[in-house]
Amino acid sequence: MGDTSFWAVPKDWSQRKHAVINYYLKSAINKFIFGSATGGVVVLDGFAGRGEYEDGTPGSPVIIGKLAEEQFQRHPSRDLRVWNIELNHENFSHLIHVTEPWVQRGYVTNLQGSFQDHLPTVLKNSGQSLLFAFLDPYRPRELAFADFAPLLERQSQTELCIVFFSSIIQRHLVPMLPAANVNDRFRQARTEHLNRIFGDGRWQRLIDKESLSLDNIVECYIEGILDRARLGCTRWQPDVFVCYHQIYARVGKDKKYHIIFVTRHIDGVELMNDTFVHESGLLFNEDDIKKFEKSGRQMGFGFEEFDQNTQRFNDGKTQLMQYLIEIGRREPSRKWLRDDLIAESIKTSFGKYQKTVHRHAVQSLVDQHSLPKFKPVDTKKKRDGTWQLGPKTLLVFEQ
Ligand SMILES: C[S@@+](CC[C@H](N)C(=O)[O-])C[C@H]1O[C@@H](n2cnc3c(N)ncnc32)[C@H](O)[C@@H]1O
Repeated sequence: MGDTSFWAVPKDWSQRKHAVINYYLKSAINKFIFGSATGGVVVLDGFAGRGEYEDGTPGSPVIIGKLAEEQFQRHPSRDLRVWNIELNHENFSHLIHVTEPWVQRGYVTNLQGSFQDHLPTVLKNSGQSLLFAFLDPYRPRELAFADFAPLLERQSQTELCIVFFSSIIQRHLVPMLPAANVNDRFRQARTEHLNRIFGDGRWQRLIDKESLSLDNIVECYIEGILDRARLGCTRWQPDVFVCYHQIYARVGKDKKYHIIFVTRHIDGVELMNDTFVHESGLLFNEDDIKKFEKSGRQMGFGFEEFDQNTQRFNDGKTQLMQYLIEIGRREPSRKWLRDDLIAESIKTSFGKYQKTVHRHAVQSLVDQHSLPKFKPVDTKKKRDGTWQLGPKTLLVFEQ
């Protein structure tokens, strides 16, 4: 991937990546990051680039810088700091230029050099703050598993967003299949390369099963992330969630990648889920959802788009009710908090339906008369005959 062609104008897939970062960080900063962070918030752009494209479109450091500026104007007392790291000299010069006002005001710091060399500095300066790291290299070999492992093991709240080139990794794996005609030296070098990327030899299982679908590759990779991140679990942060979403490209064969998101906060999962739903253009308007619920049985009155959306909403809800039943069957004696059940439901179909649709699916499964269903403990019915459910209402599975 040549530097020059990359920075001329943002490609379709880069715009989608930027939309994800912008939507997530904007909502996260407003909705929960400051509520849950004990100290301040640090955003790290580990492969920052030149800040903006040659046509003036903002790149990730400018998108993040603008969000930080908004925060400082509205809530000057909040401690939000941004670190940008960039290796390439030319890109760094431009980065300094476009971020200058924010650097002057003291909330953006640019470091020239490699992410690998500068990460310890950022970690040291972040103290107990919540840290959101965005890692967006050009190519897989620029980011070995060991490079970001310290972020996974960090004891304070950390969120990580990695651009993972699943289709390039797929191409790197193919010559390792038993039928491939490659010599021992090549095999040895490729083994070392893949071990660096995956952190160990777990990719070998994909070869043994000869199952090199993009989903299998990314799942193998995130299995390693989960294993390592679990080492960072403590009494105060007992969970870790790893979710991923594929960004499709319209042109070019090797541009398909996944965005992998690691968080220890269930709100992060819900928000990143809504972000991906938004990115795919599948987000329902919340007011429309209320109307769909009312008009579900009266479709066909001439508003074609509204009817189509109602249909899509109802289909999604029906699908999610099936997933919820599967979840119930997996742990039939568990008592679920309503919001834990929603979170589990989100994980089964990450990036497809926004949280509200999951909430409606849970409500419908509780309200329906037939089994299997979830039954609420210790709550009452509303006047319209439906159950009054809140985030902490306990639900049990009945079949
Ligand atoms: C895909 S571009 C980043 C695009 C940027 N995140 C954006 O959205 O505007 C990757 C950048 O990482 C830089 N880079 C490559 N290896 C690096 C490393 N080890 N440490 C830091 N930066 C690196 C490249 O020079 C390039 O500018």
